[in-house]
Amino acid sequence: MRKILVIGIGAGNPDHLTLQAVKALQTVDVFFVLDKGSVKDELVDLRRSIVDEHVTRPYRWLEGRDPERDRNPSDYVATIDAWRRARADVCQGLLASLGPDEVGAFLVWGDPSLYDSTLAILDDLASRGESFEVSVIPGVTSVAALTAGHQVALNQVGRPVQITTGRRLASGWPDGVSDVAVMLDASYSFEGVDPDTWIYWGAYLGMPDEILVAGRVGDVAPRIRELRDEARARKGWIMDTYLLRRT
Ligand SMILES: C[S@@+](CC[C@H](N)C(=O)[O-])C[C@H]1O[C@@H](n2cnc3c(N)ncnc32)[C@H](O)[C@@H]1O
Repeated sequence: MRKILVIGIGAGNPDHLTLQAVKALQTVDVFFVLDKGSVKDELVDLRRSIVDEHVTRPYRWLEGRDPERDRNPSDYVATIDAWRRARADVCQGLLASLGPDEVGAFLVWGDPSLYDSTLAILDDLASRGESFEVSVIPGVTSVAALTAGHQVALNQVGRPVQITTGRRLASGWPDGVSDVAVMLDASYSFEGVDPDTWIYWGAYLGMPDEILVAGRVGDVAPRIRELRDEARARKGWIMDTYLLRRT
């Protein structure tokens, strides 16, 4: 039986890698990587350096081109669905190179359970008749890297937390929660919340370019926009995450 490892590698710091992940890396015959294009070469390079550092046995490195997706779709769910199917086609092509008893691995940014489509793609491939066994190795999420960077807890005592996207936050503060962790926000959705809300913001968390800002939204939002725009223009890409807190 072919085996696929889905390995969470953490949010950008090579030291986020767990010992479980390091042990798993040493069993892999083929690493599968979806390349997002030149602007995110740095993200592929990090995966490559992790493998170079921890794997001493022979392995194959296979890159597939991640399909482009519409960033402002009129039907978000249908667009994501079509994009996931296109990614599954690419992954099916990569998987074809895996021998009957070999181990393949996807190195997933952060943790595979959080806003990542690898597990859904593998489900899709299984439903197309591909046979393989899957193991998941958890990783440090960008949310954990954010709260560690700011030295704060994710929740207030006995209170729930919601993890959501910038797109959803833009349509209103979620009911019943005082703490909201926001990911995938390209539209500065924090600018629309009550200015007395506290924000813990972080970009390139765990990486050499890490930027952290905390404060009352009304005070720090313009600074975050400025830093975000400047960093994005300089590097060509940005990944940021923030926690909004109402006390
Ligand atoms: C497709 S999701 C992947 C999340 C990942 N699976 C995780 O566990 O963190 C990408 C989003 O994660 C967040 N993210 C990932 N890495 C980050 C980092 N190093 N610094 C800040 N945000 C990050 C950003 O909100 C980005 O838009």
